[in-house]
Amino acid sequence: HKKPHAPEGGFSFDGAFGKWDKQQLQRGYQVYKEVCAACHSIQYVAFRNLAELGYNEAEVKQEASTFNVPEYSKATAEVTTRPGLPTDHFPAVPYFGAGHPPDLSLITKARKDGSNYVYSLLTGYGEPDPELLAKYPEFETPAGLYFNPYFANVNISMPAPLMAGQLTYADGTEATVSQMAKDVAAFLTWTAEPTLIKRKQTGWPVLGFLFFATILAYLSKKQIWGSLK
Ligand code: HEM
Repeated sequence: HKKPHAPEGGFSFDGAFGKWDKQQLQRGYQVYKEVCAACHSIQYVAFRNLAELGYNEAEVKQEASTFNVPEYSKATAEVTTRPGLPTDHFPAVPYFGAGHPPDLSLITKARKDGSNYVYSLLTGYGEPDPELLAKYPEFETPAGLYFNPYFANVNISMPAPLMAGQLTYADGTEATVSQMAKDVAAFLTWTAEPTLIKRKQTGWPVLGFLFFATILAYLSKKQIWGSLK
């Protein structure tokens, strides 16, 4: 079983000085929308939240309207659909294939080292490792499943979703598998913790205040006890 591996260069939001890369989050949203949304929902995200990625009001409205959301009518007791509004959440996704695609809103929190995990999972598809198979024959990939050493069960019911060049990035970035995997992993890190950067930045003024308070306490102590030797 391979160890999780990180994307080359890591993520912009890593570390104490980490920042969102909004260009990247927009690309990641594009990957979600054009690829993952066929099977996976992000139900905890509202369309209006997309403003945080740098989209303006008109763009948020436009994005919302490209999704159909369910609406319950009390009068007829029927559920119909209508184009989404900024205040709606991303809709559930009907799925009739094998397995169960989980909602991805919180997946980078639900899995250990989630941002790197999503990247590894998406780039980790390949032929079964013969060495591993020789050691553990029960890992043989059953029909209808796909070998992926980063998945806990080794064989996953999600077919490799990314293929080089399958989408055209709005910002012209080349759509390699590793680029799309990194961008969508970043986007799903944002959906799971949109306040990540704020949380990290809050620490600095706190440390500054503590430093100041320490100096003050030291000076007061000298002032109060200075005359006694
Ligand atoms: C599972 C991500 C596209 C079907 C998953 C998991 C993640 C994920 C993180 C959970 C793995 C775990 O439980 O640890 C993505 C991303 C996609 C994408 C980021 C787009 C780039 C798709 C598509 C389909 C699909 C297009 C359907 C054709 C599934 C299914 C599972 C799954 C069925 C459950 C797998 C199992 O438990 O064996 N996906 N996915 N996914 N995905 Fe996707």
